Amino acid sequence: MIRIGGVLAGLGMAAALVGAAEATPPELSEADQVALGQALTARNCGMCHATGPTGVSASPQAPPFRQLNQHIDVDRLGEGLATGILTGHPAMPEFRFEPYEVISIIKYLKSIQAKTRT
Ligand code: HEC
Repeated sequence: MIRIGGVLAGLGMAAALVGAAEATPPELSEADQVALGQALTARNCGMCHATGPTGVSASPQAPPFRQLNQHIDVDRLGEGLATGILTGHPAMPEFRFEPYEVISIIKYLKSIQAKTRT
């Protein structure tokens, strides 16, 4: 417990941000936004997609998030995330995110896109 205390504290902060979906959007730094996007995608998308910079998707058909820019324009995902409609996503549960959460998710996704298109 002592050895991994720092990691747990970091996760706790991200979890607190995830829970903070109130009417007033929190003021988040760039780094906090990326951390929030990471936590939101891990929690909501991670059961099917690989959401990190490495790893294999739990659902073989679901593209790893770091490769999304090979299929789609990540910037244009925001609208779908805000309305709960993501095209090309028949098996996906319905999601609707707050605007600040959408911004955070897009920032996080952009931060992990593989640098080269292969
Ligand atoms: C229940 C499993 C599941 C969950 C949960 C899930 N997805 Fe997916 N997702 C899939 C599958 C399967 C595909 C591939 C669909 C296809 O190509 O027909 C996919 C495809 C996608 C695509 C690519 C669409 C395209 O046109 O290439 C995006 C973007 C995406 N998911 C985003 C998300 C986000 C963001 C979340 C979390 C908020 C999420 N998904 C949660 C299963 C899931």
